[in-house]
Amino acid sequence: MCGIIGIIGKKNACKIALNVLKNLEYRGYDSAGLAYAQNKKLHTLKAIGKLKELYSKYEIIENEVKNVTLAIGHTRWATHGKVVIENTHPILSENIAVVHNGIIENHDNIRSQLKNKNVVFETSTDTEVIPHLLSVSIKNKNNFFNACISVINKIEGAYAFAAIESSKNEIFVARKTSPLVLGLGDGFNIVGSDAQSISHLVSEVIYLNDGDYAVLTESEIQIFASDNNKVEREKINIKSNINFLNKDGFRHFMEKEIHEQPNVLINTIGSLIKEEKDLNIFPEKMNIKNNYGITLCAAGTSHYAAMIGKYWIERFSSIPVNVELSSEYRYRSPAASMYSSMIVISQSGESIDTLMAMREAKRLNLTTTVITNVENSSIDREADYSIYTHVGPEVGVASTKSFTSQLIILLSLAMKLAFNNNKISIKKYLDFIKSLKLIPSFLSKILSLNENFMNLAQAIKNSHNILYLGRGILYPIALEGALKLKELSYIHSEGFAAGEMKHGPIALIEDGLPIIMFLASDGMEEKSISNLQEAIARGGKVFVISDEKNFGKISFIENKVLIPSFQGNWNDIFSPIFMSIPAQLIAYHVARERGTDVDQPRNLAKSVTVE
Ligand code: M6R
Repeated sequence: MCGIIGIIGKKNACKIALNVLKNLEYRGYDSAGLAYAQNKKLHTLKAIGKLKELYSKYEIIENEVKNVTLAIGHTRWATHGKVVIENTHPILSENIAVVHNGIIENHDNIRSQLKNKNVVFETSTDTEVIPHLLSVSIKNKNNFFNACISVINKIEGAYAFAAIESSKNEIFVARKTSPLVLGLGDGFNIVGSDAQSISHLVSEVIYLNDGDYAVLTESEIQIFASDNNKVEREKINIKSNINFLNKDGFRHFMEKEIHEQPNVLINTIGSLIKEEKDLNIFPEKMNIKNNYGITLCAAGTSHYAAMIGKYWIERFSSIPVNVELSSEYRYRSPAASMYSSMIVISQSGESIDTLMAMREAKRLNLTTTVITNVENSSIDREADYSIYTHVGPEVGVASTKSFTSQLIILLSLAMKLAFNNNKISIKKYLDFIKSLKLIPSFLSKILSLNENFMNLAQAIKNSHNILYLGRGILYPIALEGALKLKELSYIHSEGFAAGEMKHGPIALIEDGLPIIMFLASDGMEEKSISNLQEAIARGGKVFVISDEKNFGKISFIENKVLIPSFQGNWNDIFSPIFMSIPAQLIAYHVARERGTDVDQPRNLAKSVTVE
C-alpha cells in the first residue's frame, strides 16, 4: 500500500505534496513524511501517525519553505519495520531521498552485499536498499539517471518509487505492478499513486505501463519502457472530483457512503439498463460459454460478493461457477481447462492479490473481466473487459456502496446469462429490469430503520465475541457482517452457514454470546429457525434481521428487526443486497459506540497493494 507523491516546478511544493498526501491517506496512515530540496540541500519532515501530525510540524516551517519547488512525500502502511520515525519515508542515503510503495523482495540479499561494502543501514525498511544502491552507483561515477536504471535492474518485487538527488532538478520514478500516475501541469509536473489525488492540480495524466520508468523536470516528462526505449504514453483527460473528501454533514465517510447508496446505485443501475428492454452486459465479450465454467476471483468483501454471484449465476443460468480467493489462486496451480472466463471483482482495481490472480488467469488463457469502481486502475488497464460500478470514490476503508453495486452487477449478469440460455422467459427478464430500478428507493426504506440497528449495536457493543449466521444466499452476508464488524470495532466476530453450526461452531456458544442471524423467507427459514432454537437452548443471545414475512415464525424471538418485503417476485433473490445495509449499519454503530477510528481502522488500508 502506501501513497507516494513527487512535484517539481511549483512554489509551495511542500504544501502541495501534503495536500496530495491527504488524498492518498486511504493507502496507509501509520506515518508520513516529506523530503524537499532547498539550495541544493536535502531536508526532511516526518511524523508518526495520521497526516495531521505532519501538518502540525509543517506549520512551524511553512514560511521557510514557501519557495521550495521540488518535493517528494509518502504516507506509510508499514510492511518492513515498526512504525517509528527512522522507518518513515522518505528514506535517505547521503543526498538522495526515496519514497516507495510495495515490497523489494530481494532486499535482504542487497542489504548483505551493501553491508560488505561498508554501507551503514539506519532503518529496518526494505526501501533503504534503493537510496544506498543509488549512492554507491553515483560514487562509481554513474550519473543519477543511470544510477536509477542500475537500481531497477537489481531490485525485485512489486514496487513504485520516486527518487530525488539534492543537486538535480528532476524526479526519477519507476513502477512495477504498483500504480503510478504522472500529471502534466502548467509549468510543473507531478507524480502520484493515483489520478484522483492530483486531479485538483492537473487536467491531463499519463498512466505508466508496468515496468515503465520516467524522469520529470518542471517542463518535461520523459518515459521509458522496460526495454529502455523512450516511449510516448497516452495522455488522458481527467475530471477533478474535489468534493470526494466531503462528508456532507455525516460524522464519517462510512456513514455517508452507507446512506448515499440509494443515490449512487441509481448510477450503477442506469449504466446497466438499455432502453428498459435489455441489460448492457455482454457475456460474449467476457468469453462466457455454456460448456465452460466461470471463475470469480476477489479478496475480502469483494470475495463475498463473488460467493453471492455464484449462487445467482448457477441458480439462474446453470453455468458452473468457481469462486476463488485472489491470494490463493495465483500460487495453487489451478486446473483451468474447464473455464473460459475469469471475472475479478475489485473496488479499488489495485488489490495486488487480485491483479496477480488475473495475470495468472491470462497465462492460463482465460478471458479476464473486472468489475471495478476505479477506471484506469491497474486491474482495469490489464483486464480484457471492464464493468464499472459507478458509485463514486469510496473513502471509508470499509467497503459499503461498492459491495452493493458489485452485487447488482453480478445479479444482472446472472439474469442476462439466464435469458441468453433460455432459462428465463422474456417476461421474467423484463420484470427483472423493471424491479432493478426499484432497488434504490427500497434501500431508503431499509436505511430508515437505522435506529433499530443503533439499538442492536448498543446491546452488543461490549461483547468480546459475536457470531453471524446466514443460510444459502445469505451465508456470504453473515461472513460480510462479521468482517465488517471485526475490521471496524476490533471485536472478534465470525460468520457461519447456519446449517454448519452443529458441525463445530456450536461449541462456542456460552451464556449471553450474541448471535446475529440474517433470515430470508426463501423456503429454508424453518431450518434456520431450528438452528436459532439450538443456539438459544445453549444460552446464546439471538438477534434476528428478518424479512417481515417471517414475523409469525419468529414471534418467540425478542430481539429482531423486520425488513419490509420487496414488492413482486424478487424479494428473496434481492435479499443479499437488502441485508447488506443492516450488516453495514450494525458494524458502523458498534464502532462509533466504541470510539474506534471508523474511516481508518487500525492496521488497514483501503487499497491493498502488497502481497
Ligand atoms: O479493492 P478491493 O475490492 O480489491 O479490496 C478487497 C479487500 O481488500 C476489501 O474488500 C477489504 O476486505 C475491505 N476493507 C472490506 O471492508
